[in-house]
Amino acid sequence: MKTQGAQLQDELRAIVGPEALVAATGDMGPYLEDHRHLFHGRALAVVRPATTDEVSRVLALCHARGVGVVPQGGNTSYCGGATPDESGTQVVLALARMNRIRSTDPDNDSLVAEAGCTLAQVHSAAEAAGRLFPLRLGSEGSCQIGGNLSTNAGGTQVLRYGMMRELVLGLEVVLADGRVLESLTSLRKDNTGYDLKGLFLGAEGTLGVITAASLRLFPPTVATATALIAVPDVAAAVRLLARMRAASSGRVSAFELMPAAAVELAAQHLEGVRRPFATPHPWYVLAELTSSCPGDALDTLLATALTAAVEAGEAHDALLAQSERERAAFWFLREHIPEAQRRAGASLKHDISVPVSRLAGFVERAGAWIAAHVPEGLLVAYGHVGDGNLHFNVSARPGSDGAALLSRAGEVRRVVHDLVRDFGGSFSAEHGIGQLKVGELERYTSAVELELMHTLKRALDPRGIMNPGKVLAATTAGRA
Ligand code: MLT
Ligand code: ZN
Repeated sequence: MKTQGAQLQDELRAIVGPEALVAATGDMGPYLEDHRHLFHGRALAVVRPATTDEVSRVLALCHARGVGVVPQGGNTSYCGGATPDESGTQVVLALARMNRIRSTDPDNDSLVAEAGCTLAQVHSAAEAAGRLFPLRLGSEGSCQIGGNLSTNAGGTQVLRYGMMRELVLGLEVVLADGRVLESLTSLRKDNTGYDLKGLFLGAEGTLGVITAASLRLFPPTVATATALIAVPDVAAAVRLLARMRAASSGRVSAFELMPAAAVELAAQHLEGVRRPFATPHPWYVLAELTSSCPGDALDTLLATALTAAVEAGEAHDALLAQSERERAAFWFLREHIPEAQRRAGASLKHDISVPVSRLAGFVERAGAWIAAHVPEGLLVAYGHVGDGNLHFNVSARPGSDGAALLSRAGEVRRVVHDLVRDFGGSFSAEHGIGQLKVGELERYTSAVELELMHTLKRALDPRGIMNPGKVLAATTAGRA
């Protein structure tokens, strides 16, 4: 007699084929932990469907059996959103084989990609069609578009193009019971009732599985000007942003803030990274202007704005990238700060946002608290100033005990997130909730909002099989 688990494995194998079912414990390893190796789980099987129909049949089966399903893309979540729990009863649904660009429509500025396409693959397809897909993340070579959609990913171009939510025209979604929501429209205007697709963006696979998306494309970038700018403080960076946006008619596409501590960590821990200025400055901004108009003299525009900024005391000094190599070096520095921080040892991470106008005040208050109460920690607050989003991270000071810092994670998180709330902000700006921040969502979300979330969850996933325990607290449902 086969166990229930073995029987389910057989039924799943019959749907996707023997090659696409991973059931041996030794082979499932990479699917059972996140890319930072912080979250670990077990699973009954990993199923790797190649078509929407296979996803539909897998979900119909798991729904009938009451088995939890954990959708997984490139596995680059910061919050354990794609890692199964410890029960060993859940099924991981890995979308990597659904990696076709189904169509491109340059005249409509859109393309349709399957969930398992990497973000880099979507960039290439857009480029081949003479267009731009603007979402940009450090992990673009491995993260998948389905995960980007399910977490409403942000990144470094949000200032100009918006988050993932703003880049979607339509979705194909497999619902918990296996029905397929065909909403793969490529329309800009479609006022026909509720925005159903919006429910699945940012839901982290708790309401259904996104299998394909129609994405917005833009004219390609043909002119770029990039500068690394030394600024005295966060308030000056915010004023500089306003100046540059006004001077460039909205052509600022990135405006990233880095503290001296982050640049120092990068210089110490990453090969080939050099300190950009002869003397250190407290903060740096990586600013980029882009345009799709070939004649645009962006370098001149940027240089003029920076000269005025220095005169106004908003900037101390600036380096304009003189070549693609220099530009790439500036971006390498910015995009590898998380890696430098990882190599430096233990750290506490907070992905916060506040209104841009309140960012300086927040950094001052929260920074002063860290300085006074966390002597073993070094504030490394960097990120997307233009969006009011900082990765307000704290690294263990060199030579200090990382474990001591980690043991204070809860206390520090509470102070930082309470302050974020007081400043009208969000405790999760772009990394989502996953399993890491379920308690924070319960704490900082209003009763009405939480009630509506639970109502939607019950309506779309009555048996609680979709990514149980992520975003909203787990029920016993969804376990075989
Ligand atoms: C970034 O902006 O570099 C990423 O969101 C990763 C991070 O939080 O460190
Ligand atoms: Zn970020």
